[in-house]
Amino acid sequence: MYQIGVVGCGFFARNHLEAWGGIDDVSVVAVCDLDPARLDRAATRWPGVRGYPDAAGMLARERLDFVDIVTAAPSHRALVEQVAAAGAAVICQKPFAPSLEDARAMVAACARAGVPLMVHENFRFQRPILELKKVVESGRLGAPTYARIRFRHACDIYAGQPYLLEEERLAIMDVGVHLLDVARFLLGEAETVFCRTQRIDPRVAGEDSVSITLEHEGGAVSLVDFSFATIQEPDPFPQTLIRIEGERGTAQLLEGYRLEVSGGGVPIEVRDVEPPVPAWGGRPWHLIEDSVITIQRHWIDCLKTGREPATSGADNLKTLELVFAAYDSASARGTAHQSASALGTASESARAGGGA
Ligand SMILES: NC(=O)c1ccc[n+]([C@@H]2O[C@H](COP(=O)([O-])OP(=O)(O)OC[C@H]3O[C@@H](n4cnc5c(N)ncnc54)[C@H](O)[C@@H]3O)[C@@H](O)[C@H]2O)c1
Repeated sequence: MYQIGVVGCGFFARNHLEAWGGIDDVSVVAVCDLDPARLDRAATRWPGVRGYPDAAGMLARERLDFVDIVTAAPSHRALVEQVAAAGAAVICQKPFAPSLEDARAMVAACARAGVPLMVHENFRFQRPILELKKVVESGRLGAPTYARIRFRHACDIYAGQPYLLEEERLAIMDVGVHLLDVARFLLGEAETVFCRTQRIDPRVAGEDSVSITLEHEGGAVSLVDFSFATIQEPDPFPQTLIRIEGERGTAQLLEGYRLEVSGGGVPIEVRDVEPPVPAWGGRPWHLIEDSVITIQRHWIDCLKTGREPATSGADNLKTLELVFAAYDSASARGTAHQSASALGTASESARAGGGA
């Protein structure tokens, strides 16, 4: 039985905690939060789980196999380093870090301590995206040449996450990070990034509409576009709509969880790829809830078999490089393409000027 400590009992931690509750061989024994009201709320929902006002106290008192960190990015480095120093394995929420320097330091700290590290990058674990990946891997489309990855909606995400209103780096950090990871997952590593951002909703401090073009190794091009200010009916939130074209056919994830595959010399195939609704969840959030269960099962499977998680800290550095390259490209305007490989220094220096 793996003994788990969870850091952060806010908006998204509910999904982690409910998902752990349904996974075999794990037991959440402790939670911590700096906010006493949130700690109380978790204690009420999970009686018997020990609550701590900070991670240091939890790590000093508990014998934990791993710690699941569900706090915002600025707190990640200190927490990951503390957990690794205590000898426990680490899951860390996305976005992994506010800078590549922090991200690399966390990967190095876990490597030094000899503990596994996974970033809780759950979009690529969404059932429709896993099904699409199987189509790509089947070879039916031939080598991918083009993809469009779209996540445009006007769902009021600020109601549950009011802190997003103040973020000067908003949409790329919050959801772009997921979509850039999906682009890597489906088409392989990206070599160049071109990005333009807009601020549409006057209430937000950062960019809330973004268009990114990636050139992938092997020549495929993807367009990754997302917005929190796209008013339309019906609103597809939280579905990611994807089109992938290959040399021999096209696959599309369409609204309503339809996966359509055409070409390849066989009749058009349309399948329902809607994920199940967890007993503790509900529509339309089940897409996300189910992916949280799937990534957390993946982590346990990796711990048991000694495999590296698909979204390990080292893997996620490549996604974060694209995130910072996108901000650099948007803030540079006019200087055409930003090379993903030239990120390290350029993106760090351009950070303050990013956003819309
Ligand atoms: N994967 C997804 O689909 C998804 C969705 C929403 C949020 N998230 C991510 O989850 C993370 C948390 O988001 P949220 O909306 O739950 O935020 P939140 O502010 O609601 O919750 C974070 C909690 O962490 C606590 N906290 C902060 N620093 C701490 C520390 N050092 N020790 C102990 N507790 C600490 C805060 O008091 C707060 O209660 C963010 O990085 C966010 O981007 C992911």
